[in-house]
This record gives sequence, C-alpha cells and structure tokens, in this order.
Amino acid sequence: NDKKPTSIVVFGATGDLAKRKLFPAFFNLFLEGWMPDEFELLSLGRTEHTQEEFRTYILENIKNFSRIKNFSEEKWNTFSQKIRFVRFDITQEESFIQLKNQLDAIDVNIGTRANRLFYLSVAPSFIEKVSNNLKKIGVAENVDKDRMIIEKPFGYDKESALALNKLLAQNFQEEQIYRIDHYLGKENVQNILAFRFGNTIFEPLWNNKYIDSVQITVAETVGVEDRGGYYDNSGALRDMIQNHLMQILCMVAMEAPMIFESTEIRNRKVDVLKSVRRIDPKDINHYTVRAQYMAGEIDGQPKQGYLQEPGVNPHSNTETYVAMKFYVDNERWKGVPFYMRTGKRMSEKTSSVVISFKEVPSTIFNNGINQLQPNKLTIDIQPEMDIKLSFMTKKPGLDMKLKPAEMVFDYFECSPDTPEAYETLLLDALDGDSTLFMRSDQVEEAWDVITNIQTAWEKGNVSKMYTYPAGSSGPEEADELLKRQGHHWLSNSPITLKTEI
Ligand code: BG6
Repeated sequence: NDKKPTSIVVFGATGDLAKRKLFPAFFNLFLEGWMPDEFELLSLGRTEHTQEEFRTYILENIKNFSRIKNFSEEKWNTFSQKIRFVRFDITQEESFIQLKNQLDAIDVNIGTRANRLFYLSVAPSFIEKVSNNLKKIGVAENVDKDRMIIEKPFGYDKESALALNKLLAQNFQEEQIYRIDHYLGKENVQNILAFRFGNTIFEPLWNNKYIDSVQITVAETVGVEDRGGYYDNSGALRDMIQNHLMQILCMVAMEAPMIFESTEIRNRKVDVLKSVRRIDPKDINHYTVRAQYMAGEIDGQPKQGYLQEPGVNPHSNTETYVAMKFYVDNERWKGVPFYMRTGKRMSEKTSSVVISFKEVPSTIFNNGINQLQPNKLTIDIQPEMDIKLSFMTKKPGLDMKLKPAEMVFDYFECSPDTPEAYETLLLDALDGDSTLFMRSDQVEEAWDVITNIQTAWEKGNVSKMYTYPAGSSGPEEADELLKRQGHHWLSNSPITLKTEI
C-alpha cells in the first residue's frame, strides 16, 4: 500500500451525514484495502462520549445504513481502534489548540508528518470559524499534504458562494479545497465520460445534428425528513438543480478534454456552464415550473403535505419540485432543449439521463403500417444502473414490420458490488485527485445559471407555485412545458410500441 499516512479529521462526526455515509464509506475502503496503512480518524463532536460509546454508535450505524460487503469482526476491531472521538466546540479556540496538539502527537507517533484530511460536515454558518481557526493554528499549511472537504450547500446564492470562496482563499490554496457533490461519485455519472470518450461510435452523434432533446430526472420518494428547517430555506432549485443536476448536465454536454486530468476536465465543465443560456426573468414561466407536494400516498402509506412537515413554515413559498428547460448555446448544442426535473415525494426514486435522437430522415418504413420510434439512449443512475439503447428492428416474420428493441448494459449484472459515491470521493480526496470535486469558478458559474430564476421566483406574483399529490409524477404543468415543443417526459418504463402490430 503506497498511500501516505493520514490524519482524517471529521468535523460534525455525530451528524447525520457522518453516520449514514462517511464512516460506512471509510470502513468499506478499509475492508477492501484502500485506506492508508497508517491513519487516524479524529471524530469531532459536541456531545460527550466515551471512546467505547462512540465506536459502538458508529458500528450500529454502519450496520444500519451501509452495504458492508464482508463484515469481519476482526477487521472492525482493528478499524475501530483508529477512530478517536474528540469532544469539540467549534466556537472555542481552546478546542482547536487541542486539535493541533493531537495532530502533532500523531505525527510524532508515526515518525513522519502525516497528510491531513479535514472533512467539514458542519452547517454553512460554521465554515468561516473552522476555516479561520485551522489557519490560525497552522495545521493545514502544507499544500501537498493538507486537504479540506467541504460539504454542500456551498452558499445560498451567487453572492454568498463568492464570499465563501473568498474566505477560503484567504486561508488555503484552491488545490487544497475539495467541494463535494456526491452525484459525481455515482458510478453511472462517471460512466458518462467513459461512454462518450471511450468509444468511437457515440461521440460523432453527440450534437444538435442528431440529438433532438435531453432529459435529466432526479426523482425522490422521500420528503424533507427531519431537515424541514434547512430545506424550507433552500428548495429544490438550490438543493438539487444548482449542484447535482447541473453537474450531470456538464458531464453530458462538455467538450472532449485533452487528457483525463482534473484541471482539463473542470475547465470543460465550466465552459458548459458559461454557455448555458441565462433565462430572462420575463420568460420565467416559459422555462420553469415549480411546485410543492400536497398530502398523498406512496406505496400505500399516507404522506402529509409539505406545508405540514415539521420545521416548514405553514405558508411557505419554497418549491419541492422543479421542472425546467435549459439551452446550451454553443455550436454543439444550439437549439437542443435540456429538460430537467427533480422533486421530493414522487411516485418512485429514480435518477436518469435520456438522450432522444432525431427522427429518421428517410420515410421508407413510414408507410402506415410502421411508425418509427426515434433512437433513445437511457443512462440510469439509480436505483438501476444501466445504459440502454433503443433502436428499430424487423419483427421476426414473413412481412416487413418493424418494432423497437433495446440493447442493455446492466451494471449490477456485471458487478453487484459497485462502490458507493462517498467511497469513490473519499478515496480520491485521500489520493489528492480533485477531478470529481468542484472548483471555485464551477460553483460560482452554477449559481450564476440559476440567479435569474431565483430572483424571478422570489419577486412573487411572477410565477405560480403549483401543487402535486405526494406519490405522483409531479404537476401537470410540467407536462405542458414539454408539450409546447412536441415533447413529453420519458418514463423509465420499458419501451412500448407506438402502434400495435
Ligand atoms: C442531497 C440533497 O444533496 O441529495 C437531499 O440535499 C437529497 O435533499 C439528496 O435527498 C439525494 O441524494 P441521493 O444520493 O439519495 O440521490
């Protein structure tokens, strides 16, 4: 194992993200031999715990929330000895001084200056404090060894994102800052680049000459859970579109990088964001639909409406669903609509990208018997992970009738044990590979894309807040958005024949 000894410092170690995602991911990496031979997990939290209590708490959560492949008591025992709980008060300088002493002691213990990975899984209002104090105590000054992962939300709008970037830049070098968007760690999101640039046959078609439209869907069945307070100040546009969906858009729309390397790839993504047409606020209703979920049912279980959720203002004007249309105004994509939608409390959890190709120019088979379906490429991100290509084929038989068929690549069939997004991203951060993390200009540009929408929506009276019942596929108005251009949302269901033969 050539990995450098590393001190990992988790701020917010008793929080939700840490228990559901971070510790399980570190443990899985450990089980599979990806962690450095020497590492310590300094786990900082506000409430008092003994080491034993905290380790037991982590183990319970690992068992509850994670897909541990081959749990081994022996491995757990070794791993758990590397977890050290530290009672920590972010507001107290004293806590930071103690942290410095602990980091120094680890270095003395292993006989070398270890790499340091700070994971800031804290509310945005604490980032300034943590960042300033880390700078003050001088524990993150080695550009090659010290890194910092910052969780979303990265800002509330463009202005606050700029301010946050400025603050971080005062304390650290840009190459030390790893802004995380966990969608980029998802296997089939990364696969978009492999699919596009690792094959000869798709990229020549990847443009407005052959592609008619693109759809990106991220639907969730969950509501706001216990995050009503946060969510009500955020909404689907900020919580999902600005980051996760925009990143998927970049992967689909970017130009070919010269090499597979962080700066190059991130440059190409920024290019896409710069080309995304800014929506004129007066056209807001032409491009966007927003809605809130009402009471309904999912899998036979009654669900309350958004306005009844704990932590949510009963008169809230925050959207839980967004459907919108973007254009990427460059040579490759001019005129191709990119439709996006995301919502909570939808009928099913599904994330996908659908590329719809143009109709066949020739009409030799459009003779009243056959109706050709344009080719469709579907990239299912979750829960299914596959790539499906639909095409027309001759229906076996004596006459010349056509029917659609599908070629499928199914991830789970090939590899049932695909890594979790956080495993991929934590490993990259340990290795110092920032390709899948957000650079400052990327985040700012992504905020810029949605600024006009935020402004128009916040003005009130300009665009209506529609509703949809929990357990539905969103408001009808989202269908209208596409119908105007002769499109419709493509569901994940198997292809159906337009004309029964
Ligand atoms: C988070 C959002 O970034 O992504 C949540 O804040 C959302 O609101 C989550 O539920 C979705 O992630 P995943 O991996 O479950 O699709």
